[in-house]
Amino acid sequence: MNATAVIFGRYTLLMPYRILFISAEYAPLAKTGGLADVSSALCHYLHSQGHDVRVFLPWYRELNRTGLTVEPVASLESLALNVGEHRYEYRVLVGTPPGSQQPVHFIDCPALYDRNGFYGHADDHRRFLLLTRAAFEVAQRMAFAPHILHCNDWHTAFAPLYLRTNYAWDRLFAATRSVLTIHNIGYQGVFWSVESGDLSLGDARWMLHQDDLRDGRVNPLLHGVMYADLVTTVSPTYANEIRTPSYGAGLDPFLRDRGSQVIGILNGVDYAEWDPRHDAHLGDARYSAQDLSGKRAARRAVARELSLSLGPKTLLFGIVSRLVSQKGIDLLEEVLPDVLSQHDCALAALGSGEPQFEGFLTRLSTDFPGRVHFTRGYSERRAHWIEAAADAFLMPSRYEPCGLNQMYSLRYGTVPIVRRTGGLADSVTPYSRTTGLGDGILFDDYSPGALRAAIDQALSLFGSAHWDRMIQNGMARDFSWQTQGKLYLDAYRDLVGPV
Ligand code: ADP
Ligand code: GLC
Repeated sequence: MNATAVIFGRYTLLMPYRILFISAEYAPLAKTGGLADVSSALCHYLHSQGHDVRVFLPWYRELNRTGLTVEPVASLESLALNVGEHRYEYRVLVGTPPGSQQPVHFIDCPALYDRNGFYGHADDHRRFLLLTRAAFEVAQRMAFAPHILHCNDWHTAFAPLYLRTNYAWDRLFAATRSVLTIHNIGYQGVFWSVESGDLSLGDARWMLHQDDLRDGRVNPLLHGVMYADLVTTVSPTYANEIRTPSYGAGLDPFLRDRGSQVIGILNGVDYAEWDPRHDAHLGDARYSAQDLSGKRAARRAVARELSLSLGPKTLLFGIVSRLVSQKGIDLLEEVLPDVLSQHDCALAALGSGEPQFEGFLTRLSTDFPGRVHFTRGYSERRAHWIEAAADAFLMPSRYEPCGLNQMYSLRYGTVPIVRRTGGLADSVTPYSRTTGLGDGILFDDYSPGALRAAIDQALSLFGSAHWDRMIQNGMARDFSWQTQGKLYLDAYRDLVGPV
């Protein structure tokens, strides 16, 4: 227990923060990307430090229920909420995911969540407004007075406005301060203003962004930026970038207005999941910085499984990614065919997303049989194996709020080749042949030429003592939540003071 300690004479009282945490994703239950990893790892950290965290997540049809048992909460069984003119009935289930100590409160509303996919429905705004408001209503019924209301991304970004409007009458929330974490400003959840009645704001409708309303839009993320007491994002560099027109996706003026109330905290890594020394997926191929023989075994196993023919000097590139324009796949399209034609290298790629990028990787695997394998889809297990087996990891993102795979790569002795943006810039240090310091290869311009130069640098270093140095430097880096989580606690403390 390490909750804020208050010392009264001889007695030290442990005073935990009460945190209401709302997210659309939470690993391993509901995950499409890093939002899930970060939500659960941060909550685990806060819980481990003695804080009282109540996590709210939809009871999606596609929730990963492996090892999960849930119970309905007796007093929270037949609840109902009006979202504008739509009335929804829901109940609350509570369960603790396997391997975790932190319970999750599930909002079971079949009309909204008993469907395929986590996102992509015409009424998504209502689905997440219900989640957001149910978190308040359930807190009221549990008499849970949060110090911190922590919401994430556009899905739950109306929470800070609700705190100032619909729920402001309730003394339970009188001392509550709100935090919005932006994991990705590229997704803002905009919906038509004809549906703005779904916000149920009544007289407080004037607090909506009026120009947008006149233009026929409601932008959830924008309202989070306007009304959260603190806006955080997932790396310091991204916090600066999103204040500029090139990266702010239209929200940059609003972020600039918030001044010092916008901060960047680099994500941490859940090393219980992502460490080759005890990676549950790797079996006998586990390894450490002192003994990399398991990494070589992983490479052989992956080569066998994916039918890749790898010589001793073949540089194996890895990619694990959502295949969307954010991730710089179009640059790879320009560069990889030549690289594969000209050099002794291979590629193991895993991902799914936009058809054009899936199509490119499929073509590449046809054009380079035995050299390129593309797994189209989602596989936790294969993601771990690729991290372990690859020599270098490609992440040439157009923008990257934080990025987790480059940090996993560092721990797995897989040299990251990344564009110097967002969290990639904050987590990968350029290798210097002169000093022997650094753990990856970075490039600046979003151009095929710049990516090609970075890949050429990797090819020239591979197999040399420099490469081994880079691996050792990377494996020694530490992005644990023990360090990063403290920064969230500092931010909470700045908002509400020590409790
Ligand atoms: P983003 O959240 O933008 O997708 P991150 O790097 O923060 O990017 O996090 C991505 C997370 O999702 C990582 O844990 C990564 O391993 C995982 N991931 C992405 N695509 C796949 C896939 N096809 N199969 C398995 N895991 C994936
Ligand atoms: C987003 C970002 C990614 C970040 C993740 C978790 O999906 O694209 O960079 O690591 O959220 O914060």
